[in-house]
Amino acid sequence: MKGIILAGGAGSRLYPLTRIVCKQLLPVYDKPMICYPLSILMLGGIREICIVSTPRDLPLFEAFLGDGAELGLRFSYVVQVKPEGIAQAFLLAKDFIGGDAATLILGDNVFYGDYFYNEEGFARTVREFKEGGLIFGYYVSNPQEFGVLEFDQDSRVISIEEKPSAPKSNYVVPGLYLYDQQVLEICQHLQPSARGEYEITDVNRTYLNRGQLRVQRLGRGIAWLDTGTPSSLQEANAFIEAVERRQGLKIACLEEIAYRQGFVDRGGFQALTARLPKCDYRHYLERALVQVG
Ligand code: TTP
Repeated sequence: MKGIILAGGAGSRLYPLTRIVCKQLLPVYDKPMICYPLSILMLGGIREICIVSTPRDLPLFEAFLGDGAELGLRFSYVVQVKPEGIAQAFLLAKDFIGGDAATLILGDNVFYGDYFYNEEGFARTVREFKEGGLIFGYYVSNPQEFGVLEFDQDSRVISIEEKPSAPKSNYVVPGLYLYDQQVLEICQHLQPSARGEYEITDVNRTYLNRGQLRVQRLGRGIAWLDTGTPSSLQEANAFIEAVERRQGLKIACLEEIAYRQGFVDRGGFQALTARLPKCDYRHYLERALVQVG
């Protein structure tokens, strides 16, 4: 399974915060936003990851993340010249995907909950993924702002509508998608929507029409946070701060996850930690080593 993080876009709702840097490099409490979606892929056991971003921002991601070797990962970088839609990510990352399945996560989506930190949760979903498309359903109070799922009496999905004025349920599709090889062929045949974008909802609809779309509901114990506006970004900050301070454990700490997942060994982890400036983040990692080791 390959992983893709889509981390470009216009970020217009966050202007002027996004005037010189993209949204996904802004802080969410104590680390850049991209760490959160990246950590989800890592927790899923995905180690080959392609970051897609704008010509302006891609070099910043490269400067921040490097080639991934320190974390036991392999990063590729691909430019999206214009934000022409989420589904375009697959075409841009075609060579990277090769003959594999791919998990796409949006670079501004923050997920948190036991499902992601549990070997039998998301990691298992990724491990056991074989074919078709797999998306998630999450209950929200404002479904009209998202892709909305409609279910039949047997809880099977029967339609997906993008930002409908009369939503058919409160379940919407968060920015985390697993697709088999068909996704490339599906994206090649997509037409831009009325707003001029290659829509991920059209990809999901194609899988649905082929009878190959599965929807897994994420329960209410999971947090899926939005970071697209100043107040939602502020809320995400407050949420991460509250949980981290209460538990004394970090969310989306890439080095810790790489070690716990076995992507780096003890020596690699120690070397990684030793290179950091003396700061709370480093002290946290040193303590993590003691607890785990
Ligand atoms: P959005 O939040 O829909 O768009 P945006 O980030 O450009 O923000 P705004 O609406 O305020 O202008 O995008 C969701 C995520 O997908 C976000 O991480 C940006 C990313 N994205 C791209 O990288 N390229 C694209 O073409 C699109 C549409 C989104």
